[in-house]
Amino acid sequence: MSNTIIVGLQWGDEGKGKIVDYLTERSDVVARAQGGSNAGHTVISGGTKYILHLIPSGILWPEKKCVIGNGVVIDPLGLLKEMEKLRSQGVHISPENLLISEHAHLTMPYHCSLDKAREARRGVNAIGTTGRGIGPTYADKIERQGLRVTDLRDPDKLTHEITWRAALHNQELESAGFEKVNVEEVVAQIVAAAELLRPHIANTVVYLNEALAEGKMVLFEGAQGSYLDIDHGTYPFVTSSNTTAGGACTGSGVSPRKIDKVIGVAKAYTTRVGGGPFVTENEAISDMLHNMGREYGATTGRARRCGWLDAVLLNYAVMVNGCDEIAITNLDGLDGLDEIKICRAYLLDGKEINHPPATIPELERCEPVYETHQGWKQDLSGLTNAADLPPLAKTYLNRLAELAGARVSLLGIGPAREQTLVVD
Ligand code: GDP
Ligand code: IMO
Ligand code: MG
Repeated sequence: MSNTIIVGLQWGDEGKGKIVDYLTERSDVVARAQGGSNAGHTVISGGTKYILHLIPSGILWPEKKCVIGNGVVIDPLGLLKEMEKLRSQGVHISPENLLISEHAHLTMPYHCSLDKAREARRGVNAIGTTGRGIGPTYADKIERQGLRVTDLRDPDKLTHEITWRAALHNQELESAGFEKVNVEEVVAQIVAAAELLRPHIANTVVYLNEALAEGKMVLFEGAQGSYLDIDHGTYPFVTSSNTTAGGACTGSGVSPRKIDKVIGVAKAYTTRVGGGPFVTENEAISDMLHNMGREYGATTGRARRCGWLDAVLLNYAVMVNGCDEIAITNLDGLDGLDEIKICRAYLLDGKEINHPPATIPELERCEPVYETHQGWKQDLSGLTNAADLPPLAKTYLNRLAELAGARVSLLGIGPAREQTLVVD
């Protein structure tokens, strides 16, 4: 195994958690480098379903080390709840196997309130955020007024640092007609949380680089997807971090020169949760998948919008991330279809284009140019070898790889760890 970045190639929920869990066996350290508890990564192992928000999916492997890197925004209360839930499911978590970057910024209760207030202010243009305080936390970071994990070390100073920030943000909440946070309550909650999290705090930049120097293998677990990237996504319907491969380096303090491989993860179709343009959105596909009990969000429980595979997006994301390989998940979601479509280009104002345009009005005017493939009409979920895939499934995957511009190396044919096939 080499030092590998795992990134989502669509709008998140591509199945990154499952792929990271699968690849953890051959890694030593698993690191998150961006995003926060907006992420919801579902992993099914040994028949148990685990949902990870802030903690890397590698935590399910007892002997592996996990790092929450400097680029992540950490909600201390949410993190403690997540630790508690995982522990109740039998997962071992200690300062030995979970390190939290002292440089990471903290999401505070007032960030979550601000997230909701700012969404309300946007009205019909609401982004459809997860309400986890992500945008306001990154805004404070960039404004250079954020609180960081290292601030949890000194309770007296922490009280002062929280108090003035909470008072400042309460002004905005009040003027927006939203309930102010109770400053004393917030201080009490965070000071108590700091006590529990302190043993996990470390300089994870040094930790990761020393691990690499010792020849350990690091897996970088991306959160969200390329089209939620603050620079490369469908702005402003995006999240507030760099979800693409570069974000793994800045968000962990590991040089790009130490990265051996980038694996992009995509579903065999497309989904999106929240607002924003979606060229291949299709009601029939949404209904079909929802009727199968699939495509409900792991963080908010919202029904995901669904549509055909969009190879225009896939190809561009493979370029931006420099993917060496792609992992296609949820291939089994297409098992019952007579015909399967792939969007190979967009028609914008009568002209065929191959890259997504920059603006929302243009994206909304794009019409998908589809090619139609015959469905394989076979239950793939029990397969154990990619060589046994029906020929029509192989044709679909070969064409997908050709359009995406990268080879398919892994396939998901069900949610469980063992429902992962290696493609030679
Ligand atoms: P992530 O955020 O990228 O980790 O993805 P999520 O876990 O939010 O969403 C992916 C969903 O698809 C979850 O419910 C997974 O359990 C499920 N899943 C992942 N891979 C496969 C697959 O190959 N087949 C099926 N049926 N489900 C899958
Ligand atoms: P994982 O890691 C899918 C979406 C939200 C919203 C937009 C901004 O599970 O793939 P935010 O709360 O980040 O300010 O919301 O981004 N979003 C996700 N969609 N999967 C995710 O993470 C997401 N994280 C954020 O729905 O449209
Ligand atoms: Mg998810």
